[in-house]
Amino acid sequence: MSIRYLSEYKLFKIDTLRTSYIISITDTEGFIAHVYYGKLISDDDTNYLLRTYDNHWLPSELPQERLNFMNMFPFEFCGDNTGDFRENSIEIEDCNGNNAVLFTYDGYEIIKNGFNRNHEDLMPSLYNKSETLVIYASDKVLGIKLKLYYSIFDDNDAIVRSAEIVNTSDAPIYLNKMYSVCIDMENYDYDMISLHGNWGRERKIERYRIPAGEHRISSTRGRSSHQANPFVAILDSNADQNRGDVYGFNLVYSGNFTAVSEITQFGELRYSMGINPHNFRYHLDVNESFSAPEVVLVYSDCGIGGMSRTYHDLYRKHLINPDFVFKKRPLLINNWEATYFDFDDEKILSIARKAKSIGLDMIVMDDGWFGTRNDPNTSLGDWFVNENKIKCGLPELVRRINDIGLDFGLWFEPEMVSPVSMLNSMHPDWAIKIEGREPALERNQLVLDLSNPEVREYIFNSIKNIISSCNIKYIKWDMNRQLTDLGSSYLDKEHIGELSHRFVMGVYEIQGRLLKEFPYLFIENCSSGGARFDPAMLYYSPQIWASDDTDAIERLSIQEGTALCYPLSTISCHVSVSPNEVVGRCTPMYTRSKVASFGTFGCELDITKLNDIELAELKEHIEDYKNISDLVLSGDYYRISSYNDNQTHDSWMIISKDKQKAVFTLVQVAARHNNRELKIRLKGLNPDYLYKISSPLYKEDILLHGNVLMNAGLVIPYARKDFLTREFILNAVKC
Ligand code: DGJ
Repeated sequence: MSIRYLSEYKLFKIDTLRTSYIISITDTEGFIAHVYYGKLISDDDTNYLLRTYDNHWLPSELPQERLNFMNMFPFEFCGDNTGDFRENSIEIEDCNGNNAVLFTYDGYEIIKNGFNRNHEDLMPSLYNKSETLVIYASDKVLGIKLKLYYSIFDDNDAIVRSAEIVNTSDAPIYLNKMYSVCIDMENYDYDMISLHGNWGRERKIERYRIPAGEHRISSTRGRSSHQANPFVAILDSNADQNRGDVYGFNLVYSGNFTAVSEITQFGELRYSMGINPHNFRYHLDVNESFSAPEVVLVYSDCGIGGMSRTYHDLYRKHLINPDFVFKKRPLLINNWEATYFDFDDEKILSIARKAKSIGLDMIVMDDGWFGTRNDPNTSLGDWFVNENKIKCGLPELVRRINDIGLDFGLWFEPEMVSPVSMLNSMHPDWAIKIEGREPALERNQLVLDLSNPEVREYIFNSIKNIISSCNIKYIKWDMNRQLTDLGSSYLDKEHIGELSHRFVMGVYEIQGRLLKEFPYLFIENCSSGGARFDPAMLYYSPQIWASDDTDAIERLSIQEGTALCYPLSTISCHVSVSPNEVVGRCTPMYTRSKVASFGTFGCELDITKLNDIELAELKEHIEDYKNISDLVLSGDYYRISSYNDNQTHDSWMIISKDKQKAVFTLVQVAARHNNRELKIRLKGLNPDYLYKISSPLYKEDILLHGNVLMNAGLVIPYARKDFLTREFILNAVKC
């Protein structure tokens, strides 16, 4: 693990345990070039790799063909309007209205112990970096400085990149675009994986050959979105879960983003990622700076699974709040699907009593407890309890719930205001809208203008007052509409183009302040289901509600897609009622529970309506989950099969780091060929360990070695009717 400057070659070499990233500076003019990213290589011969050495367009030798050079040079960060016609990384409008920028090298610094933004910084950032390379560059005409950051970790193969611009010129500028990453790679006929969907269908895996020209994945919705996730993998066309080169890119940001692949005229691949330039125009005064969010790059030569495990380890050790990340999560019941808006204190208490009897730890009171809210049409912003529903008052309700033996959690949607609300009548100018234009509604609500410090203060104090009034351990922070009509009564015309970014920063500020004020507070983020599932949200909340679609079979692909880069413990998964509220499918309790055991387990149904047999079964599954929750928190995840691919079954494993314990779950969705027995090859075990395998499928435990299980396979007999989903617990008995 090291970052070095090899002065004889003018090369920077960033080595993690298994990967190398190489950057070079050209002799003349000091262009900053991408040379290599991939499997670890030795220092020898690396200067030979710089693409310019075999071409004859070098401007120093052929100034009359400068354009040809600019248009093929592998820039680490691409300027604008100076001859590179590929996707640029930055757009600057200077005080004369000109739009040209080109950065050349000024120097570097290698920061030992890494560049770690401190917690006062709002922009979420990976922590405990071991070393950071900062490359200093500037546009010599504008006099504007650029810093490119590359950080590594002493226990992980990821490389984190970001960029910062400082207006060191003597006049204000507009920053109209600012990406975090540009990387000019060779193109070995790569595929791409990206995650797409819509409400209830988040993060479905799409895999395809990277098309010629530009291919853009983005959000302009003010949140990272249901429709696309800020994660992309570029991979060998024959790479699979276990084999092949895979490059992952994950942007640590929760707002509008863009990820662009571009296969150039020469068949090379430029890959760029950062804040979406759409409706983005940042005014930078003299000496002001702008920092782009971080992008986490992971290279794996062990296929998609290797990449996923690297991301999971990284986010657990360097992103998520260390106070919570490995701690047992509260097994909660949420009343949303049980009651929607139709509940009162007695109903909440009756659910809580049953929840206690089946071994749950917490009840979360969802939407509808405040203002006069009995449907989605009113009261957002009026954060005081509705005493028509919670007749005993909130502190008393919480006290009674604590007396039952449960913790209490509460739902908020802090970023929003209902047109029909006290808040809106008092401060109609606090909503995002453009004067003279009727703002579009979604779920009959408007978005608050978080660029305005008064609004942020109001939100913070509203939540703080409620939390201080009673024993609230957890909040579910929801966000149910997208941003449009970007107007603000707070930002003037020079700054209005900053609104969507300032909105996101406002969310970070409030969540950060709450955690500072209440360090024990557990935040679960949520956005119309899983529309804001991104690393930046994970920085503030150790888990995120993955989707409003709680149907176990639908959840298979949602959870598989989410786990491509996000740790299992961050994926909130609940057992809900059958038939399912979204798709109407009937699914056995066993399947619903084991699919919910993929991530952080909870319940989301009216358990007061379950009969004793159903309750007893659910209780058993909750006990089972307690037995594997350590694996979900810290184990290694292996995807064994995908229903998406095979259309019959889905299966996965989670294995403890010491390989002593594992869980293997199989969900049979459609009929097998002739209903024959299945033989499934497991992964990630110690080949020499003897494992005791327990499952309701076997009359008694069986003993098999890791090497047999991984090479020959585990035999799954067909069990008529009874068989749909099975969990297998593996414990090493002898090493
Ligand atoms: C959307 C969330 O995803 C649901 O879980 C629930 O909290 C509703 N909002 C409440 O309005």
